[in-house]
Amino acid sequence: MRIAVGTDHRGFAIREKIIESLRQRGHEVLDFGTFSPEAVDYPDVAVEVAGRVSRGEVDRGVLVCGTGLGMCIAANKFPGVRATPCHDDLTVELSRRHNDSNVLCLSADLLGERLIDRMIEVWLNTPFDGGRHARRVEKIADLERRVEEEKQAT
Ligand code: RB5
Repeated sequence: MRIAVGTDHRGFAIREKIIESLRQRGHEVLDFGTFSPEAVDYPDVAVEVAGRVSRGEVDRGVLVCGTGLGMCIAANKFPGVRATPCHDDLTVELSRRHNDSNVLCLSADLLGERLIDRMIEVWLNTPFDGGRHARRVEKIADLERRVEEEKQAT
């Protein structure tokens, strides 16, 4: 897969390990930093990764900040992005099976390196269940279209 990765300063220490492990698994990685421990604003990184997922330039995105939450809020502003904040094996598995997650948002402060590695593995290898979940995901896409139409009308 083609995967965009980005972190803020809180995720800086884990970023290279994530990228290395994705490359070792045969994925193509686009690296959007951050490239130093200096503080950056997480929306500036989220826009690079989620924008590319939204435009179909990459298959998936991985975002890391202190909690994973700010990145997730920012990423979900983009049409077609289904960013999920995951904390363990179960949330990461269900984010794929039920929500067809295409951006994984992780907490650098709360999760250890081994857990992050395992979660990414599960997230990449778990397919979407489809069926009733496809109907629900399609309703989210409808919501995005409706909001856009309302904006155009005003
Ligand atoms: C940065 O201090 C912190 O707010 C950020 O990494 C993230 O946790 C935001 O949600």
